[in-house]
Amino acid sequence: MRIAMIGTGYVGLVSGACFADFGHDVVCIDKDAGKIARLNKGEVPIYEPGLDELIARNVRESRLSFTTAADAIRGAEAVFIAVGTPSRRGDGHADLTYVHAAAEEIAALIDGFTVVVTKSTVPVGTGDEIEAIIRRVRQDADFAVVSNPEFLREGSAIEDFKRPDRVVVGAEDERARAVMREVYRPLFLNETPILFTARRTSELTKYAANAFLAMKITFINQMADLCEAVGADVQQVARGIGLDKRIAPKFLHAGPGYGGSCFPKDTLALVRTARDADAPVSLIEATVAANDKRKRDMAEKIVKALGGVDGKTIGVLGLTFKPKTDDMRDAPSLTIVPALQAAGAKVQAYDPEGRHEAEPLLPGIQFRDGAYDAAEGADGLVILTEWDQFRALDMGRLKSLLKTPVVVDLRNIYDPADMRARGFSYTSVGRP
Ligand SMILES: NC(=O)c1ccc[n+]([C@@H]2O[C@H](COP(=O)([O-])OP(=O)(O)OC[C@H]3O[C@@H](n4cnc5c(N)ncnc54)[C@H](O)[C@@H]3O)[C@@H](O)[C@H]2O)c1
Repeated sequence: MRIAMIGTGYVGLVSGACFADFGHDVVCIDKDAGKIARLNKGEVPIYEPGLDELIARNVRESRLSFTTAADAIRGAEAVFIAVGTPSRRGDGHADLTYVHAAAEEIAALIDGFTVVVTKSTVPVGTGDEIEAIIRRVRQDADFAVVSNPEFLREGSAIEDFKRPDRVVVGAEDERARAVMREVYRPLFLNETPILFTARRTSELTKYAANAFLAMKITFINQMADLCEAVGADVQQVARGIGLDKRIAPKFLHAGPGYGGSCFPKDTLALVRTARDADAPVSLIEATVAANDKRKRDMAEKIVKALGGVDGKTIGVLGLTFKPKTDDMRDAPSLTIVPALQAAGAKVQAYDPEGRHEAEPLLPGIQFRDGAYDAAEGADGLVILTEWDQFRALDMGRLKSLLKTPVVVDLRNIYDPADMRARGFSYTSVGRP
């Protein structure tokens, strides 16, 4: 099947490469000429484990190509929209400018029955808008608009795409359902649950999933605060509740608050949609507020652990919103680091893959080339992102490099008793 993918970011690039690997003929289209030029030179513009080999193999076997030319859409049976849907400045609604522009472009170029599939996360009713745009431009077009939200996680995107817990397809048209069955045929063979719903239901399912996960993280973060106040251990609480199958263990790691390209903007957009529909989601409104506060609280926690930071140097390990990605969108570091700087600290940081993205967003940081470099001469070390390479640092070496042996571990990757035995003043999250 011929597939066109509009938007070659984290989602479009991974989806396009995986569809090609399923055996489809895929063209990835992006307006960003620099990105396409790099892809055509064999470079991958984002960091995602395994993606470079997957792309190289499918390009070599002529199933995957990259272009800036929208007219590559011609002849595609399925055209996926995977462009960004950031928060609109000011009101938190999803900004659909890129989605609408893509719909206009598609309208002019489709021929024969075409399924237009929204992979971007879009508010309920966006499918209706895309349909209206295409119909306005081309009264005679034979097409159907389908919602197929993406649930992959950066850092394990390929595995998530190829072995998803489920695929959700919102379609109103039987011909479109047949095309979508063909698109996901390898997953049918794997017995992946494929859930066909109405389009609006599918659109809302994506927001409901992200809002629930954001709420789960926020719940355990509040439990962590409570644990600190009453002398309990949040990791054991998380394990104790997570073994209950009704609760499940994932997304119960206390930390500095959720960030990333999805949860912050999607929770806000859901809050807006719900208010507009006069059915407010107060749980999610509370989640958003608590998470914003959490990031600021974490800066204070660091200041307290160091006994004030004015004039001090802080080493920071990890800046991306989570490990195994270079994505800095809404990372907790973007709140925490400037707050430390505002309190008078100098920050020297190391991130294994995030420097390129972080540098323009975090002015005034000194970037270092490794974890020990970031610790050298610092008055304290803060672990902000739990990259694997930070999990087994040589504590003796670290201690000799730090000016004072203070470690603030916002990801709970070290053991409090062990760290104290090694002579550190060690602060973590929700543990006595
Ligand atoms: N990143 C994730 O982990 C993730 C997971 C699930 C869902 N999503 C959703 O997927 C969508 C895309 O997210 P992303 O992280 O891949 O975004 P991104 O910003 O990394 O990529 C979007 C790409 O679309 C391109 N683009 C914009 N308008 C275009 C047009 N008219 N024609 C061609 N290209 C165009 C941009 O140049 C950019 O390269 C969003 O709605 C997001 O919420 C993201």
